[in-house]
Amino acid sequence: MSDPAKILIVDDEPYNLLLLKRHLNLMGHEVISAENAVLALEMLDRTIDLVLSDVMMPEMDGFEFVRAIRRNAETQNIPVIMVTTLSEKNDRLRAVEAGANDFITKPVDALELQVRVGSMLRLKAKQDEILRFESELNQMVEQRTQELRLALKRMKKSHQDTIVYLAAAAEYKDEETGAHIQRMSNYCAVIAQGLGLDDDEVELLLKSSPMHDLGKIGIPDHILLKPGKLDPDEWEIMKTHTEIGAEILGAGDSDYVNMGAIIALCHHEKWDGTGYPSGLSGEDIPLAGRICAVADVFDALTSKRPYKEAFSVEKSLGIMAEGRGTHFDPAVYDVFLKRLDEILAIRSQYSD
Ligand SMILES: [Fe+2]
Repeated sequence: MSDPAKILIVDDEPYNLLLLKRHLNLMGHEVISAENAVLALEMLDRTIDLVLSDVMMPEMDGFEFVRAIRRNAETQNIPVIMVTTLSEKNDRLRAVEAGANDFITKPVDALELQVRVGSMLRLKAKQDEILRFESELNQMVEQRTQELRLALKRMKKSHQDTIVYLAAAAEYKDEETGAHIQRMSNYCAVIAQGLGLDDDEVELLLKSSPMHDLGKIGIPDHILLKPGKLDPDEWEIMKTHTEIGAEILGAGDSDYVNMGAIIALCHHEKWDGTGYPSGLSGEDIPLAGRICAVADVFDALTSKRPYKEAFSVEKSLGIMAEGRGTHFDPAVYDVFLKRLDEILAIRSQYSD
């Protein structure tokens, strides 16, 4: 005996409806009935556990009725038992094709009805359980995915914070302000954008360029902070900040740190091959290095340093123009000039 269920019965013969209803009521089920399939479709919803339908009916026959049930996402999983006469046996195949689950023969035998209805209701209960489980599982996966996304976002943020702290530590020693890092990295982003790099690449450059001078952490103070000109030996030591930075960052396994290492190593290379530490030239210098070179020099010229006063923008641009094609990649330099308004806006936004 199955649990009480809500069953919809459809038949154009009122007597058949009455008979079926009585049998099913006796089994303890709630029954609603319709005299034709069109009406029955209107009565169908998720609360119905089972449908018993006649085959031959005016307006819409049993086949079309079952097809309509299966087409609707709301009702497609409701089991359907077709009530057929013996002569309609050949129609059973068509009914299966249409989507019927089982058959019962007229005149209806009470015991057969009980067995078939019981087995269909058990099937429906299992099906409902699976659907419920599936939906719970989906919910759980969605929730876990969200938690994971959040954790990833936090991790990325703390990762980026660490980079900024590292860079700030190097700058602290250099007596430059944090504003230099902000200006330099934002200049890089503007130039990268102007060169047509995609958003991810621009973001990568913005977040990794603050590490360009990280290696200065390894330069002795009497050289790094010397107010006057460095002698040749001191200069050689000063140049090693590129390799020290790349070495510190070299062990990283994130895109940011890897890019930071490239930038640390290459930001003093020159387009004509006279830069350091490797003397790379042209496009052998990674693009990030060529972009940082322009951004770094512009900021160094327009800022006060231990060895010099800040130059005016005009004077700085005049000096830089001579470096187009020798110090700087001409394409990068041209984009820098083209975007000068944005560069100057950044300069005033992050002034010392
Ligand atoms: Fe540098």
